[in-house]
Parts: sequence; C-alpha cells; structure tokens
Amino acid sequence: MTASLSPTAAADRLRPRRSCLAVPGSNPRFLEKAQGLAADQVFLDLEDACAPLAKPEARHTVVKFLNEGDWTGKTRVVRVNDWTTEWTYRDVVTVVEGAGQNLDCVMLPKVQDAQQITALDLLLTQIEKTMGFEVGRIGIEAQIENAKGLVNVEEIAAASPRTETIVFGPADFMASINMRTLVVGEQPPGYGADAYHYILMKILMAARTYDLQAIDGPYLQIRNVDGFREVAGRAAALGFDGKWVLHPGQVEAANEVFSPSQEDYDHAELILDAYEYCTSEAGGKKGSAMLGDEMIDEASRKMALVISGKGRAAGL
Ligand code: GLV
Ligand code: MG
Repeated sequence: MTASLSPTAAADRLRPRRSCLAVPGSNPRFLEKAQGLAADQVFLDLEDACAPLAKPEARHTVVKFLNEGDWTGKTRVVRVNDWTTEWTYRDVVTVVEGAGQNLDCVMLPKVQDAQQITALDLLLTQIEKTMGFEVGRIGIEAQIENAKGLVNVEEIAAASPRTETIVFGPADFMASINMRTLVVGEQPPGYGADAYHYILMKILMAARTYDLQAIDGPYLQIRNVDGFREVAGRAAALGFDGKWVLHPGQVEAANEVFSPSQEDYDHAELILDAYEYCTSEAGGKKGSAMLGDEMIDEASRKMALVISGKGRAAGL
C-alpha cells in the first residue's frame, strides 16, 4: 500500500513554487547563499549537479544544511538520483533518516513509469515509520525527462498521493529525443514553431487532472534574464505554476512572471465582486452580468479565482 493522503496534502500541493532554486548538494558555499535568496522553493541536488565521486559526501552535507540552515519561507526539497543508478536508495535513506523532519519533498528525476513513484513512496513510508515521523507527510516531485516518462505521465501523476508536482526536465528530455540543439530551454533552430508546446501541454494536463502543480525546468543561459523571462512567460501563460532558477538573477524574474500583474489581479477581484452581486438576491439572482463591455458568468468566476488565488499568494 502506498501512503494515504496526509491531512495537509491538499494544502501542500498549493505551496508557492514560482521560483524553484537548484543548489548543488556538494557545495556548502552555494547552500549558504541560497538561504538568503527570495526563491519560493529550494532543492538541494544530489543528481546531475553533483559529480559521482562527490555524491556520498554530498548526502551528509545536505542533511547538515537541512537541519542547521535557515530555510524559513521556502519549500525544502532534495533531488535524489534516479532509480536506474546505484545511488537512489542510499540518497533517500541517508537524507530522510537524517533530516526527514526538515524536508518537505523528495524530487525523483527521470521518472519513466508509475512503479518508480510507488517504489519511492514505499521506501519513504518505511523510513517514516522507523523514525517515528508522520507517515505520508513528505511529498514527491516527479521529473519528466524522457520520451517514456512523457508517454506515461498520466499514470505517473496518479501513482501516489504524495505527489505534489510534475516537473519538466528540458535538458535530459532534449537529449533523450535527439532534439537538434545544445541550448537548453531555447527553441531548436530550423523548426520555426514552439517545439515544447506538446510536451508542456501534456505535462500540464496530467498535473491538472490529478490536482498537481506543473513546473517548468531550467534555462541555462543564466546571464540572459530577458531570454529567461520570455521562456518562463510562455509556460506561465499556459498555466504552469513556476520554473526552476539556477542563478540569483533568475529568482526575481520567476517570481514576477509567475505572479499575476496588479492589473490582472484587480480585474479578477472586480469580476468576483460583480459575479457575486449578480447571482445574489439583491442583484436579481442572474447567472451572468456585464462588467463594462465584458460579459461574465460562472466560467469567468472560475478564471478569476485562479488569478486572484495566485495574486493573494504573491501578496498582491
Ligand atoms: C533538468 O534536470 C533537466 O534535465 O533539464
Ligand atoms: Mg535532468
């Protein structure tokens, strides 16, 4: 049996994740600095940002920084290695036994099918029971980074009540499908349209079907903040909840791009007020109304709720 939904799971799936900061688990200087950045989430990486020979020591560095660092206001995540390596179980056991009470989620990269999520869920449950932690509290973030993962993304999204997000990993994904470019996050030359649209939409549909968040992966040209904004803006426009950031310069941009503008927020609040009035006794119990030149109805209310919820979470 996989873990059942913890009492806080629904709220955990709504944690702000506009900016998800990647920090190598093997680099104490970066782990120190990350604590002072305004990212919604930080993930301490034991996977590709850690060289193979550095991984065993990095596990202990990650435990120490989770337990002793000040991560106030941030969702704390550790990315372990994927199940095809020899490292995954030791990553999970060392980090969760050592710092499970100071950890919100485990990110599993290169997920290919539902069984890989189930395996992580079962291992987490055993560790939680052994350590006397609340069973089911630690969430899972599932990274989709190859064709098989994308084909199976719906069963992956449904596999465990622990899962909070589906994350797109463009670098590995581009490599896995032989996309002809080396510039991660940018469009491949020669295609002339958005090469990521299908992938992002498929991930988004699976995430929304199971009430999960959808997170876009990294943009590696870290000095090109305008390029970052453009790519992030596309994912935000589709409905993604956030994006990875690799550099302090990307943090503020991500927080901005994935928050509604003040204008949209104010507009959404007006729609909500106008709809509430028109459906009330005093407003004539109507199902629709005019707000300026715009007709609003129940569907407009739902759209406005999304913007208003994100705006409130962003402190607008
Ligand atoms: C992230 O892990 C990526 O492969 O893009
Ligand atoms: Mg990757």
